[in-house]
Amino acid sequence: MAASESFSDRDSWERRWEQALAQHGDAIVSKPPNPLLVGEFSDVEPGRALDAGCGHGAESIWLAGLGWRVTAVDFSVAALERGRATGTALDLGEQIEWLEGDLGVWTPEPAAYDLVSCLYVHVAGSAVEMVQRLASGVAPGGTLFLVGYPATDPETGEPTMAAGQNQVTVPDALAALTDGWEIEIAENRPREVGGGVDAVVRARRW
Ligand SMILES: C[S@@+](CC[C@H](N)C(=O)[O-])C[C@H]1O[C@@H](n2cnc3c(N)ncnc32)[C@H](O)[C@@H]1O
Repeated sequence: MAASESFSDRDSWERRWEQALAQHGDAIVSKPPNPLLVGEFSDVEPGRALDAGCGHGAESIWLAGLGWRVTAVDFSVAALERGRATGTALDLGEQIEWLEGDLGVWTPEPAAYDLVSCLYVHVAGSAVEMVQRLASGVAPGGTLFLVGYPATDPETGEPTMAAGQNQVTVPDALAALTDGWEIEIAENRPREVGGGVDAVVRARRW
């Protein structure tokens, strides 16, 4: 990837997804869902979920397989089409709504979701504002789950593989969730790949 290539604009992501799916589509589709999400939500009663920045849909499809009704949002048409095809092939098509939307401005239906999950999304504007907007979709008693890959290692200050990107950090999430939230997890977990940490936040709405 060229150093100047952006991680926050739609055209760059569309090109990235088109190329990746053309070259390694089968490998991508067979990738397991995110282990942090699996670790937190395998035993949770299914309800309505929002997967914000769903990519090719591994997590949406996993949630649907557990009985969740999922709204899967991304701004890459190529990724959404692949997700829809995979979900349909697994007979989960009825449970997942694949929605084209820009998370820089897209606002969820208010207080509608038992789970809002946003994993590794690169933010063009303010991460705090995006978290607040996504959090507005969580129903009372529901859960917000965020994972971001900070651009620097908080321990060493060294750049990580996410250098130059703006993803959600623990301080961003805490700044966004000041009122009406119980913070259940807000921590940096060392990554096995790429250096640095995953910023993991789980919060329950009162
Ligand atoms: C690193 S991928 C993560 C995909 C998936 N959440 C996962 O964990 O595998 C980031 C995803 O966010 C999407 N994305 C980035 N910025 C976005 C935006 N402003 N609006 C909607 N989707 C966006 C990209 O198209 C891509 O599918």
